[in-house]
Amino acid sequence: MILIIDFGSQTTHLIGRRIKDLNIEATIVVPHEAPAAIKRYHPKGIILSGGPSSVYGKNALLVDKKIFDLNIPVLGICYGLQLMGQLLGGKVTPGEKKEYGPTHFRLIKGNSLFINWEVNKKDFTVWMSHFDQVIKPPRGAVITGSTPSVKVAAFADEKKKLYGIQFHPEVHHTQYGNDILSNFILRICGENPLKTKLDIEEIISDLKTQIGNKKTICALSGGVDSAVAAVLTHKAIGDNLICYYVDTGLMRLGETEQIINTFKTYFNLKLKVITACDIFLKRLKGVTDPEEKRKVIGETFIRVFEKEALRLPGEPQDKPIYLVQGTIYPDVIESKGTLHAQKIKTHHNVGGIPSKHAFRIVEPLRTMYKDEVREIAKQLNFPNDIVKRHVFPGPGLAVRIIGEVTQEKLDILRRADQIVVEEIRKAGLYDEIWMAFAVLTGVKSTGVTGDERKYGETIAVRAIESKDTMTATWVKLPYRVLDKIATRIVTEVFEVVRVVYDITTKPPATMEWE
Ligand code: XMP
Repeated sequence: MILIIDFGSQTTHLIGRRIKDLNIEATIVVPHEAPAAIKRYHPKGIILSGGPSSVYGKNALLVDKKIFDLNIPVLGICYGLQLMGQLLGGKVTPGEKKEYGPTHFRLIKGNSLFINWEVNKKDFTVWMSHFDQVIKPPRGAVITGSTPSVKVAAFADEKKKLYGIQFHPEVHHTQYGNDILSNFILRICGENPLKTKLDIEEIISDLKTQIGNKKTICALSGGVDSAVAAVLTHKAIGDNLICYYVDTGLMRLGETEQIINTFKTYFNLKLKVITACDIFLKRLKGVTDPEEKRKVIGETFIRVFEKEALRLPGEPQDKPIYLVQGTIYPDVIESKGTLHAQKIKTHHNVGGIPSKHAFRIVEPLRTMYKDEVREIAKQLNFPNDIVKRHVFPGPGLAVRIIGEVTQEKLDILRRADQIVVEEIRKAGLYDEIWMAFAVLTGVKSTGVTGDERKYGETIAVRAIESKDTMTATWVKLPYRVLDKIATRIVTEVFEVVRVVYDITTKPPATMEWE
């Protein structure tokens, strides 16, 4: 197995996922657990993850440098490379230029990490997210790759099998990232793949054990994650499951009706629809801080479920005690899901849940990524409507309205958003992209309509390409599509005078604006 030491990166778990995809076992530990884990597991290789701190900072997370003398190959990624640099006699300093998102990498010296690398693969795009950099590689190591701003973007000590790379091979947007990881694991560490596969039956059997014969409710959002969680739970516990769909009033135009129709047509689940638009709007009144909004929404969801669960007929002991959610790993990690990770945003279904509530939470997909969940959905013969439906955040349009959420703003955003999605569909691009949406930016600007001055709203359009949520690029939409979207929005949504296109990658931006 491969031991991953987690220094708090958003993508540590994704390293594990990539290793799992190679059918190799991986275990993630925090730095202070590493010595015991090495003794216990005898790993064939060690990966040092990225992380948010500086290796020279007061609170830097360190490891005992003896791990580099155990004859176990080590790969340091981002902070991991800097840590190797610092501990092994190199030098790390704050970089003059930060690198976030896509960067051009040049392989300048071949080594086992890039074994049999074809000539045309020597210049490629990698994804970075760092400020510090190694300016002198460790003793015994040579520089193997550079970027325009970082001379030591990769180093290798082939004799001791120690390798460092500044970029993230685990993220989907790094070209050849899987090749690099597989070279480390299969060739350098000499691991042999096991034969395993995503096992639906195992998830169902775990759910049976966890829930037994208790009554359970499932929060359905209309998206693929909660639908898969619901169907798997239904297979495990049958009619003891009741699904709730909450109409928060924060959904897109016509979405609630569409979701209810799809679920009634394709799924044999008990579905109750709760209309809670007024409650959500009331609780959101005056709330402008994005994190506060997310927490209010998370809490309101739970309180609505509690109220509904209590209303179900039966004795108190028969009331549902389990709440099934379709939480996936990116929701967990962005909400500060590991000891040393930073909080990026409070996902409504993780950090947004109040500490005291009436349920035990069940999350069968908590360690998975969206593409894995979609794969299960396909195996379960889900309709395309659900498998290919664009991701929509639990807090809905509330996180796409900057500032306070009001009925009037929701109405403007809904009409603009509808145009974006419609035009993307007409252009035949819907199935190719992660999601496309409109944001009500709260920025007012001057326009001129019918020879009159108009001081109106600015809509931002965002279209994203991603695979596992952790990194993303903006979609290079054809000009004619952008033109159509902008023209339709300013003519059909009277309140809007300006449309802009968001061309930021993740990182440094996240997909949603809040
Ligand atoms: P960000 O904005 O963090 O979003 O790059 C990554 C993906 O997650 C979705 N998202 C959420 N989904 N609850 C959810 O169920 C949430 O609170 C939430 N916040 C973001 C987002 O739409 C994107 O696809």
